[in-house]
Amino acid sequence: MPSRDRTLVDAAGLQSLARPVQVLAVTGGKGGVGKTSVAVNLAASLTAAGRRVLLLDGDLGLANVDVFLGLSPRYTLAHVLNGERTLDEIVVTAPQGFQVVPAASGLAELANLDAAGHLRLVQTFSALATRVDVLIVDTAAGIAHGVTQFSQAAQHVLVVICDEPASLTDAYALVKVLSRQHGVSRFRVLANMTRGVGAGLELFRRFERVAERFLDVVLEFVGEIPEDECLRRAIRAQRPVIEAYPGSPAALSFKKLAARADTWPVPSGPRGNLEFFVERLVQRPPVRLEVVP
Ligand SMILES: Nc1ncnc2c1ncn2[C@@H]1O[C@H](COP(=O)(O)OP(=O)(O)OP(=O)(O)O)[C@@H](O)[C@H]1O
Ligand SMILES: [Mg+2]
Repeated sequence: MPSRDRTLVDAAGLQSLARPVQVLAVTGGKGGVGKTSVAVNLAASLTAAGRRVLLLDGDLGLANVDVFLGLSPRYTLAHVLNGERTLDEIVVTAPQGFQVVPAASGLAELANLDAAGHLRLVQTFSALATRVDVLIVDTAAGIAHGVTQFSQAAQHVLVVICDEPASLTDAYALVKVLSRQHGVSRFRVLANMTRGVGAGLELFRRFERVAERFLDVVLEFVGEIPEDECLRRAIRAQRPVIEAYPGSPAALSFKKLAARADTWPVPSGPRGNLEFFVERLVQRPPVRLEVVP
């Protein structure tokens, strides 16, 4: 363990609380491919399966987690970081039982946090760690700093793609940046808005052919979510589709995805603790020198 990590965790007096938490970032590159839908329904499905889930809204855009769930948060993580609010004052409980940390514009400045802010961030996540099994991070579109930081810090990166050229090129760009500049080499890929049986796997194969040929990465196909009008209706009703239309094709697929995600390994040892998620979150990416022929 780097001495800096040890100092921070010791300073926060938290090592006794440390326990592994599964951290999963939902990303995809392109806007509108279904990242928030996946994050919200995965959170709801895992909660229904008995897991204690925390959903961190890493998107500062408009159609974010609280809109999807009909929540009206008053504060965000930024208020905790600047010392104005406690964690309990910012966390909102969704009607489905999982907890939500609302989007924080302050997260954009993670790399510039001062020592006090950094310590507060570690303390915040440590306090959360005692009451969660799974942390799901919904990321914004694109490959901006916040998106890559969350993905770099997570144990599992779930890349959502759909059958549109821009989705495949944007997901490729994201995987490229994460692998070349952030040391992420393994990606789990979910096909969304698929039409017809087998379409998801076929889409994955197309993506995999290009990505594995040009990038040093391993991709795993984790399933598909069909295009389903019930999901759109559920979003309008500000509810997870697994709750609003539990028998719909999309809901059944989300439940299958959650059962699968539940089997993904939680790292043992200190690297699996939320404190170290924070450490990775605020880490600057390693600089890699590319050899230009
Ligand atoms: N499986 C699906 N079936 C039908 N419609 C879907 C499906 N998935 C997503 N959508 C539609 O796509 C829209 C965008 O989904 P969502 O907001 O989850 O995407 P996003 O990737 O989070 O977008 P952004 O990049 O703007 O955050 C939804 O409002 C919904 O109408
Ligand atoms: Mg979104």
